[in-house]
Amino acid sequence: MDKLVIEGGRTLSGSVRIHGAKNAALPILAACILTDGEVHLHNVPRLLDIEVMMSILNRLGCQARHEQEMIIVDTSSANSFHVPEDLMKQMRSSIFLMGPLLGRFGEVSIYQPGGCAIGERKIDLHLQGLRALGAVIEEKDQQILCKASKLVGADIHLDFPSVGATENIMMAATLAEGTTTITNAAREPEIQDLQNFLNQMGGSIIGAGTDTITIQGVKKLIPCTYEIIPDRIEAGTVMIAAAATRGNVTLTHCNPAHLTSLIHVLKRAGVQIGVCNDIMTVSCMSRPRAVERIVTSPYPSFPTDLQSQFMILLALSDGFSVMKETVFEGRFKHVNELTVMGADISIDLNCAFIRGVQRLYGATVEATDLRAGAALVIAGLAAQGKTIIEQVHHIDRGYDQIEVLFQKLGADIQRHTPVHKQLDLAN
Ligand code: UD1
Repeated sequence: MDKLVIEGGRTLSGSVRIHGAKNAALPILAACILTDGEVHLHNVPRLLDIEVMMSILNRLGCQARHEQEMIIVDTSSANSFHVPEDLMKQMRSSIFLMGPLLGRFGEVSIYQPGGCAIGERKIDLHLQGLRALGAVIEEKDQQILCKASKLVGADIHLDFPSVGATENIMMAATLAEGTTTITNAAREPEIQDLQNFLNQMGGSIIGAGTDTITIQGVKKLIPCTYEIIPDRIEAGTVMIAAAATRGNVTLTHCNPAHLTSLIHVLKRAGVQIGVCNDIMTVSCMSRPRAVERIVTSPYPSFPTDLQSQFMILLALSDGFSVMKETVFEGRFKHVNELTVMGADISIDLNCAFIRGVQRLYGATVEATDLRAGAALVIAGLAAQGKTIIEQVHHIDRGYDQIEVLFQKLGADIQRHTPVHKQLDLAN
């Protein structure tokens, strides 16, 4: 397993380009199944989860490949609606194939998805939505079989604004007969990106970005060329790292409008932020201030995907902060590791109570999930001494070579790959 080795304490400075959004690219790759032909996607990040999605598409008979800076997905030879169990278990986002496969073949067989261990992560809202569109669903142990002789538009209210359920229902409804309305829909920017992609292929969807989305079913979608939006979570991770190391960093190719809640709390912590079109500057010359209370909730509130990373800034801030996690139950696993590094944090149910310390110290720690891993990278960058992060594969699921990203900003961070893996790569 790869390790990241960080010599901490360097102030980050310089400029970095933000990659395309993982959470937009994954459903869009799955949505390619809804058309018959070659889709060209730009600004797709190079990540483990993206490779897994491409492998699944290939196993379904499509041809998904990298070509220069693009990913090309040719779906004309798609011939299977069985998502293989081994790949399904590798990531949660394999669930996105349900809606598109149902739309294209009227049938889909999947398994309970895998993914980060950050909570129960049910899929009941996905299944309820697809049932409302006419699918008959049978669950046998880990396998889920889903059939619909035809999909028919429906009014669907989500009990919780689930990002994935909203996207799955949108994709299935695109080729359904009639109109589908999703109320209490999730409002994340990635949902708007999916709407724009589907509409570019000839879909008829309005409302993404609000809590009501209306999908007028169409008969057919036409392949297109599309550019994925910037990754707001990668951008947020860099912004927090800049602040935690008291650095001065410029981010290019980002979308500041997608980061309003983070910008707001960073400013409350005393961090200076400058915004000009798709460029942002972040600087923090003195010790950050504690932020009394932050609560994660669905967009546009503070994102759960930045909770672990922001906790590093609070751990180093002057004063006492509370972080409340309302989206996932199991998202404080990084706290044990941070304690080893000298942080003063205690947990009660879904609240973390953080008393800022002057300094964190390097240690050997383990990434337990994707964003917890990113948080440990920030902690290592800000800490005094050497930090070794194990189980880096969690981080690789969602960051395009995180060590390169931070090396560009002057960090001393190296990836150590075991010799047997280096030999495998060379062969
Ligand atoms: C997406 C993001 C993930 C982010 C999350 C919340 C992608 C690929 N992933 O995940 O990075 O952390 O949104 O912003 O876009 N729930 C149910 N039943 C369901 C579906 C969800 O109870 O059928 C619950 C979940 O257990 C969780 C909450 O709803 O507690 C949020 O989940 P959801 O919005 O669906 O997140 P994902 O789409 O899995």
